[in-house]
Amino acid sequence: ISLKAYNTFGIDVKARFFIDILTKEDLVELRNHVVFKQNKVLVLGGGSNMLFTEDYDGLVLKISIPGLTAEVADGQVIVRAGAGVVWNDLVNYCVENGYAGMENLSLIPGTVGASPIQNIGAYGVELKDVFESCDAFELATGEFKQFNHADCHFAYRDSIFKNEFKGQYIITGVVFKLFTRIRINSQYGAIQSLLAERRITHPTITDISNIVSEIRVSKLPDPSTIGNAGSFFKNPIIDRSRFEKLKHNFPEVISYPAGDDKVKLAAGWLIEQCGFKGITEGHTGTWKNQALVLVNHGGATGKEVYSFSEKIIDTVFSKFDVKLEREVNIL
Ligand code: EPU
Repeated sequence: ISLKAYNTFGIDVKARFFIDILTKEDLVELRNHVVFKQNKVLVLGGGSNMLFTEDYDGLVLKISIPGLTAEVADGQVIVRAGAGVVWNDLVNYCVENGYAGMENLSLIPGTVGASPIQNIGAYGVELKDVFESCDAFELATGEFKQFNHADCHFAYRDSIFKNEFKGQYIITGVVFKLFTRIRINSQYGAIQSLLAERRITHPTITDISNIVSEIRVSKLPDPSTIGNAGSFFKNPIIDRSRFEKLKHNFPEVISYPAGDDKVKLAAGWLIEQCGFKGITEGHTGTWKNQALVLVNHGGATGKEVYSFSEKIIDTVFSKFDVKLEREVNIL
């Protein structure tokens, strides 16, 4: 089966086996399946953070477990969502019902089940700010386990599911903790300027959701027309002492404080400074409004995108002595 429709980069590779998982029982049954026993397994949500560089010689599991419910008590809302729920459908459901907390995460591609894995984030909010717990299926034992917030070791675009537990669990559902009292997070510069421009002094969560969606549409390519996986690299975090040297050589460098003696750099800026913004190379390139996003202009192979990303890493390294790390999973 071709995976082209199952990865937002639109890379045309094949999977040897493919199973759509609709229920938790499907997972239990799966373990008795000979195809499962004899093959390596790749778990796919929305395929929005993957770059396939070759055919997958194993079993691809597409997680489509549905379900979306909410319980309100004492100004708090507990929302339970199946892993297969489309992330933005969850956000819209919360915004429409007045459940505050995830409006800044509007329009992020992908599914609920993938959201904790890399602790998705945007515009001043991260998944960890609204996460309560998740349920997961352990492939090795066939057991269901619950992970609370502390278990997940959330960090910037990172969690235990990308490290110690990589490939060992399938997230089946996530529980979120939201609020019925509005607590707006509008610290991000572009949100503030749009609010001011529109003279919105008391924004609602719908205002924030609309503004975030507008910002995303203006900066990021729509994967349904131009293949991409959002930010291709992470924003690098470096020691303050190294940052001071960098700042000395490049006074305009864009940075944010990142905890004890650390500084986070804007990878998009570093890439743009190397002359890579909006360029096309073969079938791939960087997006015209956001150099951190690599795109498939049509017919790109994963290898082509990968080697273009190598070139970016090398060029940024020679100019700034900073090593970019990929955010996207390479397969
Ligand atoms: N910038 C440039 N040139 C560029 C791109 C950015 O100079 O080509 C500068 C911007 O002007 C700005 C700074 O870099 O001063 C940061 O840019 P932006 O606000 O667009 O955000 P980002 O750091 O590039 C991160 C996330 C995005 C998220 C936005 C908004 C990562 C790797 N990316 O991007 O997440 O939407 O912040 O919060 O942390 C994703 O992970 O796929 C993703 C899209």
